[in-house]
Amino acid sequence: MVDLQSQYQKIKETVDASIQEVLESSAYINGPYVKEFQADLEKYLDVKHVIPCANGTDALQIAMMGLGLQPGDEVITADFTFAATVEVIGLLNLTPVLVDVEPDTFNIDIKALKEAITPKTKAIVPVHLFGQVANMEAILEIAKEHNLFVIEDNAQAIGANYTFKDGSKKKAGTIGDVGTTSFFPSKNLGCYGDGGAIFTNDDDLAHIIRGIVNHGMYKRYYHDVVGVNSRLDSIQAAVLKAKLPFLDEYCNARRNAARFYNNAFANNSNIITPTSASCGQICDACDCHVFHQYTLQITNGKRDELHQHLLDNGIANAIYYPVPLHKQKAYANDRYNEADFKVTNELVETVISLPMHTELDEEQLTLITNTINDFLS
Ligand SMILES: Cc1ncc(COP(=O)(O)O)c(C=O)c1O
Repeated sequence: MVDLQSQYQKIKETVDASIQEVLESSAYINGPYVKEFQADLEKYLDVKHVIPCANGTDALQIAMMGLGLQPGDEVITADFTFAATVEVIGLLNLTPVLVDVEPDTFNIDIKALKEAITPKTKAIVPVHLFGQVANMEAILEIAKEHNLFVIEDNAQAIGANYTFKDGSKKKAGTIGDVGTTSFFPSKNLGCYGDGGAIFTNDDDLAHIIRGIVNHGMYKRYYHDVVGVNSRLDSIQAAVLKAKLPFLDEYCNARRNAARFYNNAFANNSNIITPTSASCGQICDACDCHVFHQYTLQITNGKRDELHQHLLDNGIANAIYYPVPLHKQKAYANDRYNEADFKVTNELVETVISLPMHTELDEEQLTLITNTINDFLS
């Protein structure tokens, strides 16, 4: 699905030199690269605070701890996402409330979100799924009306922009009260191990979170709150610092590959292709979709056959996600009604993700698209 090796070869010199520098310095934890990467990312995202941490799951948990959410508080998120989002809600003894998604963007459905609000609701976690920013303007309005926190799960959309109705833009992850991301190797900005970060423009929240990531310490060996141990190590920070200047180029490469795919499938009536919600196409101007995944909907019932056919022909593909969260054993709950998850229940039967990374060339894309069009003609 991804080709991290070819990408590494292009930046090998810088990355190797940075890693060597960390090795020579022996500042493996909290070394200068962590601070430098943090500052570079703050500038890139135009956000006041970036707090690096160990991974994207920790980032979500720490954000929720930082906001002071209490056991029993309800947190609304999308049914169609990776489990990390709902997992941390459960771990903190908060109550996850899963809602359906929109059929075109796969992101949280605004009507379903509104209907799920109760007096116990304290936060909304929009997930910018597959690289496309959720409908943040509507989410912010709902949050304001009901006094709710907005925690953006931006693990899949770093580098994406969101355009407001007045034409102003903000980077994904910097729009709500707090945003989180993952630097897992296959992410749009990936390191060579695990990594994550939390973003916020709120000085007080940033201060609280900086303590939480470090065992709840604001002064060495004085533990004011219950914290965790969640650090981005210096080697991962060095890799990320070397890669950050290429993030926009990486996002453009992904968009170009998505454009090739979309053109190739344009006349195939068995396929629904993804587009940017804001313009209905894939354009660099709105860049609200950075294609962490390129995900088709197969409408003739042959999704599983296509999956096997591609594997038989040596073409990687994946089903993200095969089971809705509300049907997972860990998260099933009597409060859910199947009729409320019409879109997610359909998506799990129809979606298929194709290879998507920065190094896809025309030959590979032609082979993939011809194989699919021949099979589904
Ligand atoms: C939407 C989403 N949230 C959170 C995470 C968790 O990130 P990590 O794997 O770094 O813990 C992921 C990782 O795949 C993700 O896709």
